[in-house]
Amino acid sequence: MGMDQATSVQTAYRGIAWVEGAFVPAEEAKVSVFDYGFSRSDVTYDVVHVWDGRFFRLEHHLDRFMASMAALRMSPGLDREGLRQVLLECVARSGLRDSFVAMLCTRGRPPQGSRDLRLCRNKLIVYAVPFVWVVPPERQASGISAIISSIPRIGAESVDPTVKNYHWLDLDRSLFEAYDRGADTAILLAPDGSVAEGPGFNVFIVRDGRVITPDAGALEGITRRTVLDICAERGIPTEVRPVSREELLDADEILTCTTAGGVMPVVRIEDRILGNGAPGPVSMALREFYWARHADPAETTPVPYPEDGTDPEAPELRAAGRAFIPSPR
Ligand SMILES: Cc1ncc(COP(=O)(O)O)c(C=O)c1O
Repeated sequence: MGMDQATSVQTAYRGIAWVEGAFVPAEEAKVSVFDYGFSRSDVTYDVVHVWDGRFFRLEHHLDRFMASMAALRMSPGLDREGLRQVLLECVARSGLRDSFVAMLCTRGRPPQGSRDLRLCRNKLIVYAVPFVWVVPPERQASGISAIISSIPRIGAESVDPTVKNYHWLDLDRSLFEAYDRGADTAILLAPDGSVAEGPGFNVFIVRDGRVITPDAGALEGITRRTVLDICAERGIPTEVRPVSREELLDADEILTCTTAGGVMPVVRIEDRILGNGAPGPVSMALREFYWARHADPAETTPVPYPEDGTDPEAPELRAAGRAFIPSPR
């Protein structure tokens, strides 16, 4: 990973956004500097993905996003069905077959001269861009390295981690710590010292054949839920309970999981190599079952693309990542 700012090329983002009731090129989606979503991180969001032309677990993401907005006392002036239609149309217009689809609701801004939150008009924004990988698929297949960050995750009493949020400074600091220590990513502990989550993912450990994830201090990830569902269906025992730092360091396997990448095995934690340095069998099986579900009509919602609606640039981009995603697809 680790491309530095000097070498990264900033080309225009491809994709389509929906802002102020209109569909626009993604690059034109803007938020005012006066919006509290920007100046106070007073915003909630959700990210769902489209894979092979189908939304994955769309209703789960809508459930979570509606609950997040309610928890922050936001009402964006569009109901769930309206939002679903905007999401479908945004991706259809983009032509993207594999897409990272974000929906966000900002507090908005109060009338000039006021700071009364109740007078803000909440603002809903949706965008669909090419699929984003927290860890590139070629790195996933060989496994990633993680540190345990010295920075604790912000306390759940201060910022509720189950309301998906942009309070990312602890996560960003942990990533720089990981880069400095030659690791791909970081796992953060909650203020009580138990395992919380990482920058954009939930954490599981595997111990004596049991698949274990923290019960608190983290976002209730849809991918985490999917992993737990797969385990239930396959008779793999699970535990949802506090996980200590020692258990993380001593695990048979560790895996991280997120919408933006799926199931991502860890092969090094701090200085310890897990297994023989290759992803463990439980992690790899879960990763395969996870991707296999993307063809299941019960889990997915097809995008209503127009007849001529394919993204001309997409095939090569898609092929590059796909080589590392387990089949059957
Ligand atoms: C902090 C954090 N934890 C966990 C996750 C994983 O959640 P999901 O599987 O719903 O993408 C995310 C996703 O972006 C996240 O930002």
